[in-house]
Amino acid sequence: MMKMKLQGKRALVTGASVGIGKAIARALAERGVLVAIAARRTAALEELADEIARAGHRRPVVLATDLAKRGAAADLAARAVAALGQVDILVNSAGASIVGSQWVAADGAAARELFEINYWSPLALIQALVPAMRQRKDGAVVNVTSLAGVAPWVFTGHYSSTKAALSLASETLRLELNGSGVHVLEVTPGPTETALLAGARRDVPGAGAAMAWGPRGNTETLARLVVRALERRRKAFVYPRPFCLAPLLPGVARWFMAQIQRKLDGDEARLEAAREDVGAAAGGRRLTKNRP
Ligand SMILES: NC(=O)c1ccc[n+]([C@@H]2O[C@H](COP(=O)([O-])OP(=O)(O)OC[C@H]3O[C@@H](n4cnc5c(N)ncnc54)[C@H](OP(=O)(O)O)[C@@H]3O)[C@@H](O)[C@H]2O)c1
Repeated sequence: MMKMKLQGKRALVTGASVGIGKAIARALAERGVLVAIAARRTAALEELADEIARAGHRRPVVLATDLAKRGAAADLAARAVAALGQVDILVNSAGASIVGSQWVAADGAAARELFEINYWSPLALIQALVPAMRQRKDGAVVNVTSLAGVAPWVFTGHYSSTKAALSLASETLRLELNGSGVHVLEVTPGPTETALLAGARRDVPGAGAAMAWGPRGNTETLARLVVRALERRRKAFVYPRPFCLAPLLPGVARWFMAQIQRKLDGDEARLEAAREDVGAAAGGRRLTKNRP
């Protein structure tokens, strides 16, 4: 496949109010892409749009949306097409997490909402936007998954499940679009400094200690890598790079993470306290990152 020329393309970036999505939107705008930026916090989106315009690039279109609501993604896609004319690049970066053991979070409202944001919404956006890309024989879908989808961590199993599901959906989509001119890029971040990571460090037992030793990424570098991977039509990449073997050797990654988590059991009292805390979390009071 030929390299993708980004200049003049039009992109929809979800989760662009902060964090990784914001950095990707900025990096695309710097490459001459006209972007539509979506999230719930419109003030933050307007601020980003102003910043991009001040830097001399085309001002992004701001689209407010709550992707936890069924139907919102299809509506967002329609508004993005109306505002941009067409969407050449879809970036599914919006994401959230909840804290709750499997038996407490179960299939409750917070868990279902999480799947709506992290899994069903990206699929609904793909459904709305990929057919026109196929017709034009040109386009790209960028799905932001997670290393958490390779190896789970206690009390955030639902987050891992949404990301593993999106990872498999990305792989399937790539096979289905083979030869169509539509490129599928899976971006698999490990720990990257954002509000989501800060929430995990604060709310998830053992996560802070586990993260203390490993490398951590930053959003600007990750966004630069996304732009480069899009231009070169790469299928997937992991960031930070030291984690790149994890998706290739998932059994080893899971074994390693299980060893770390087994050590958590040594401190039963602390874990019990965390379990009670988690019960409250599943009631919706401490979604680590799901509130405006
Ligand atoms: N940071 C990491 O270490 C890490 C690691 C692996 C994967 N990831 C993935 O990277 C992506 C970006 O995460 P991040 O770290 O940048 O997190 P973040 O800073 O918390 O940003 C999350 C973004 O998603 C949006 N969002 C959340 N719930 C939403 C909803 N209901 N409707 C619409 N938008 C919603 C947020 O916007 P509003 O709150 O304004 O709606 C925000 O723009 C996520 O898919 C995450 O799973 C992150």
